[in-house]
Amino acid sequence: MGASAETEAGGPRSARATHRRGAIGGASIARVSEQTGASTAGLPAEAQAPGFDTQHAHSARVYNYWLGGKDNFAADREAAEQAITANPGIVTDVRANRAFLARAVRFLATECGVRQFLDIGTGLPTASNTHEVAQAAAPDARIVYVDNDPIVLAHARALLASTPQGATAYLDADLRDPQAILRAAAKTLDFSRPIALMLLIILHLIPDGDDPYGIVTALVERLAEGSYVVLAHPASDIRAAQIAEMTRRVNERMSGPRATMRDRAAITHFFDGLDLVEPGLVQPQQWRPEPGLLSPPRVTAWCGVARKGRPAGRA
Ligand SMILES: C[S@@+](CC[C@H](N)C(=O)[O-])C[C@H]1O[C@@H](n2cnc3c(N)ncnc32)[C@H](O)[C@@H]1O
Repeated sequence: MGASAETEAGGPRSARATHRRGAIGGASIARVSEQTGASTAGLPAEAQAPGFDTQHAHSARVYNYWLGGKDNFAADREAAEQAITANPGIVTDVRANRAFLARAVRFLATECGVRQFLDIGTGLPTASNTHEVAQAAAPDARIVYVDNDPIVLAHARALLASTPQGATAYLDADLRDPQAILRAAAKTLDFSRPIALMLLIILHLIPDGDDPYGIVTALVERLAEGSYVVLAHPASDIRAAQIAEMTRRVNERMSGPRATMRDRAAITHFFDGLDLVEPGLVQPQQWRPEPGLLSPPRVTAWCGVARKGRPAGRA
């Protein structure tokens, strides 16, 4: 655990980064604390680099397969297909989650004035990555991505194409060490100003024994008033039998922590002490849908956006 490498591109703060090593294109890479060996940044997915376990399925690569990506191996494809057989809705579900991510980031950048994003459990680069959506709305937006999968690190370069006015950085770090993430993210983000903390489809990979609620609390505590939490979590209480069977099949094939699906009440608990913005905790297709777009029915996740501290003018 612990942040191991940092990659940053873009505006003025990157010039101040103290742990820089070498430049790759417009980005720089630095080890923040000891963990893995040499950086794998820039490697193609197929590379059998140290740290790539291709014998077992990995959540980032299974998810990539469902999204139609090519950054996955046979074990990932087998697990993903097993999941589809148990729960054919999973493919539209993950796409609905990505659409929620884009709508939430756009909402925060355009309607709430948020200029900083801490996206933990980034996943492999795909369409409409957080920095692309945020910087399209606000070119000065600063984004820190965090993931602990070596294959996501290998593709980090695609997440670093910042606007000149903004900044992007990548941390190879584990959500179970929130203090290491906060320390490293503070090189790019100003924690005295609002930040959107993004935890989408990652908390189910933190078992109850690793205290997911304590982790979220530790992160939220460091956020300034006026910050937001964007959270999406797979549901155990929608299409329950299919989800249980899908989870069993994927867990059998995964290395690392097994997925823990949670119900609406358990997911609501992550927002304790925060003010959910309208429409509250809903399924992704129900969260501020864009007019005229046909949305998938019964997406098997709960999601919401919540604010820390009350908006000005409220008692
Ligand atoms: C299912 S993907 C979700 C990607 C993206 N957040 C989304 O919603 O589209 C989950 C990601 O979380 C990462 N992840 C899982 N456990 C993690 C941990 N303990 N620390 C950091 N990242 C983790 C995985 O490597 C994977 O890239």
